Amino acid sequence: MDPGSVFASLVQAPEDPILGVTVAYNKDPSPNKLNLGVGAYRTEEGKPLVLDVVRRAEQLLVNDQSRVKEYLPIVGLADFNKLSAKLIFGADSPAIQANRVATVQGLSGTGSLRVGAEFLARHYHQLTIYIPQPTWGNHPKVFTLAGLSVKTYRYYDPATRGLNFQGLLEDLGAAPSGAIVLLHACAHNPTGVDPTLEQWEQIRQLMRSKGLLPFFDSAYQGFASGSLDADAQPVRMFVADGGECLAAQSYAKNMGLYGERVGALSISDAGITASKEVIINIAGSSKEVDDFVCKTADVASKVESQLKLVIRPMYSNPPIHGASIVATILKDSKMYDEWTVELKAMADRIISMRKQLFDALSARGTPGDWSHIIKQIGMFTFTGLNGEQVAFMTKEYHIYMTSDGRISMAGLSSKTVPHLADAIHAAVTRMG
Ligand SMILES: Cc1ncc(COP(=O)(O)O)c(C=O)c1O
Repeated sequence: MDPGSVFASLVQAPEDPILGVTVAYNKDPSPNKLNLGVGAYRTEEGKPLVLDVVRRAEQLLVNDQSRVKEYLPIVGLADFNKLSAKLIFGADSPAIQANRVATVQGLSGTGSLRVGAEFLARHYHQLTIYIPQPTWGNHPKVFTLAGLSVKTYRYYDPATRGLNFQGLLEDLGAAPSGAIVLLHACAHNPTGVDPTLEQWEQIRQLMRSKGLLPFFDSAYQGFASGSLDADAQPVRMFVADGGECLAAQSYAKNMGLYGERVGALSISDAGITASKEVIINIAGSSKEVDDFVCKTADVASKVESQLKLVIRPMYSNPPIHGASIVATILKDSKMYDEWTVELKAMADRIISMRKQLFDALSARGTPGDWSHIIKQIGMFTFTGLNGEQVAFMTKEYHIYMTSDGRISMAGLSSKTVPHLADAIHAAVTRMG
């Protein structure tokens, strides 16, 4: 008998396709190596960035002797939850004003998605979730393990390197009534392709007419356009119509709090959209309206109670530090304003990298239409390079990216753009 480990027969699991890129990059001794796989912001000098406003918030927290390290409640830090819901749904959101929103702190975007998905798997009548094709590689795994059944809807058109809007409408139109639909709130990962506001409105109408349940993944609020409000617009359109809506938020990118694992899940219940005065005019009685508002607030409280049952056996309660940083910044108008300035600077640097790369390819006369580089938005460009071309660029130029040709614009700098443009030019002309 083999006296070896009881785990000896395990097969070696493959590296995560995204995080594995960094593992390969770290092993490469070349001084010219460039990691464009990682979804994290880098400065012009190629360094990770801690925002000044985050440093300041941390100082305040450290100097506050009244702070202790007790457990947070299961749902997390109350202030943080309220402020997060306002950030995504809007300060004047009728859903928040009518107490129709249940918010819990989550372990960044991923944990918030997972808790939302487990809640739906336990309590929602439809277990199918439609995710865009393609999407962030972790989505299908998170939703499948939570107990949902994953299907895809068409999203990206390789021919135009833009949105396959017709395909999207057809696939959501054919989805069974009540199905859950995962929507990227902005800066779609990996394609960098977002619907226009007019297209969002059509998506909203279609989804509401079929009773499809929107589950927004908001990992990049403020990071796409530089404006927190503009990037939240699609979510707010869905919340404003009074229908149900889920939103998973991450502060990894927009506050640079990657390793703090701070995010939130908000579930907005259905409600009335018109003002109380208008409804009194229709219903004729203020009491009916008050009863309805109470009932909906009651639903939010039931939702929260069930979310606690999901969270408690999973990780008990969330970490305190990151949420305290976020709450400190969001509740102080001066610090909030400082944050928006730093956030815009990050978004602007990324947009400027798009322009520089596009110009560098144009200057080299690289065959093909590269205008999608400046049309796409957010952290990533879906270059359209194929697996063979990507492998060539890694081998010959030490440039690392996911095999689907996605590059992180946030990992580029003015210094590295020429190296990347040379590599793309060589890959396209030699491996065409
Ligand atoms: C679309 C999308 N959703 C969610 C996440 C989750 O990120 P985190 O868990 O670090 O907040 C990411 C991160 O890359 C993402 O791109």
